[in-house]
Order: sequence, then C-alpha cells, then structure tokens
Amino acid sequence: AAGASARHDLAGRRVVVTAGGTREPLDPVRFLGNRSSGKQGVAIAEAARARGAEVTLIAANLEVGEPVGCGVRAVSTTAELQEAVVDEARRADVVVMAAAVADFRPAAVSESKIKKQPGDAGLTLELVRNPDILAELAAAPHDALLVGFAAETEPDDERIVELGAAKLAAKGADLLVVNRVGWNEGFARDENRVVILERGGAVVDRRSGSKMSVADGILDVVARHLGGDPL
Ligand code: CTP
Ligand code: CA
Repeated sequence: AAGASARHDLAGRRVVVTAGGTREPLDPVRFLGNRSSGKQGVAIAEAARARGAEVTLIAANLEVGEPVGCGVRAVSTTAELQEAVVDEARRADVVVMAAAVADFRPAAVSESKIKKQPGDAGLTLELVRNPDILAELAAAPHDALLVGFAAETEPDDERIVELGAAKLAAKGADLLVVNRVGWNEGFARDENRVVILERGGAVVDRRSGSKMSVADGILDVVARHLGGDPL
C-alpha cells in the first residue's frame, strides 16, 4: 500500500466517492436508515487523496470522521445524495458509489410526529421506490469511470460473485466491488473482504484486510482502468 501511495498514480484525477448510508425521514423525529458506517468509503477517499487525486466525498450520515484533504458535501436523503453526485460526476474521472442507498422511502413524510392511538395494534408504512442513482448515472452520457458496490448476505462466495455479475450488468457500471455483509460482517468493522468484478462479470481481483488496504486494492484496479499517464 505504501508503494501504491508513493506512485501518485491518481495525480490530477478527480475522484468522487459516496460514503455512509442514506436516511429517509418518516416525520420530524424518525427516519428509515441502514447500518453503513461510511468507513470503507472514507478509506477510499483517503487512499485516493494519498495517491494524488483531487477528491470530493459525498457524505451520508457518517459514523466516522471526515477524511483530511478532501472536499466534503454532506447529504442525508437519497434525493440529496443523487443531486450532489449528479452534479459532481460532471467534473469527475471516477465515481465510486460506496454509500448504501435506500431502495425505498416513505410515500409521505408526516409534518408532525406520528402519534400512536390507544387501540393501535400495529402500523403499516407505505414505501415507494427510490431512483437507482448508479443505474441512472450509467444510462446518461458520462465520461467518468463508474464503480459500484454491492452488499450481499449470501454465505457462498461463488453465489456472491454470480449475484455481483448480474448486478453489474443490470446497473451498467464499469466495475463492481462485492462484499458480504451480515449481522456480524462488513458494517462498522475495520476489516473487509471484497471481490472486484469488471464489465462482463470477470473477477479482476480479491482483496481482504483493513478497509485502507482494500481501498488501495480497489484503486489499483481503477488506476489500471483509467490507463495511460494522468494529465
Ligand atoms: N445504488 C444506487 N441507488 C439506489 C440503490 C443502490 O445508486 N437506489 C448503488 C449503491 O450505491 C451501490 C450499488 O448501487 O453502489 C449497489 O447497491 P445494492 O444495494 O447492493 O444493490 P441494489 O441494486 O439496490 O440491489 P438489492 O435489491 O440487492 O439491494
Ligand atoms: Ca439496495
């Protein structure tokens, strides 16, 4: 990793990273969220910076500190994240979608706190689909290399690669970083284990270790795909 950083192989490149997890408000005091801490995305932003890139982090409800030396745009909802990443992507060489984006949001946001009534035995929430930000970026004209992440809970490694390949094809991204998540895996940990797939579904690399070394492994593949000499 030290060698990679010393290489400055991303000098002059503009890298946009989304990190954390989006939250969808239900009312002024509640939201639907997920367990993404932002650690892996922040590590990618820091590693890209160390390799010479100009980095913008789009930070959704981080549970970790912001990276040093990067521009930061704080967002919370999926709509806010989409607006920020679509704007930043216009100037980017690489967009890394490490954030866990909510697939659904409440159909309506209550202006006042939702109250329970004495007789209420339960509560049914109506949710609507959020836009798929990565798929929309891929479908629109763009110059940036698009890197997606996929969180899968299947225990079997081969099955995870299969699901990842299908997801990559469906999204139209250039690279997909697949990691297994579960009750005790992935989230808020310092370690990670990922499989990196490229367009067509081929496994280009497998990395495990600290989220910083996994970040450098992902950026090795990114740098190779950008190719040529930067600037
Ligand atoms: N993503 C996105 N917009 C969404 C949902 C996901 O841009 N509305 C991005 C994530 O940031 C990630 C990739 O798509 O880079 C894959 O996210 P994941 O949740 O693993 O995949 P989904 O396509 O949402 O499929 P699933 O039904 O398995 O959640
Ligand atoms: Ca999802």
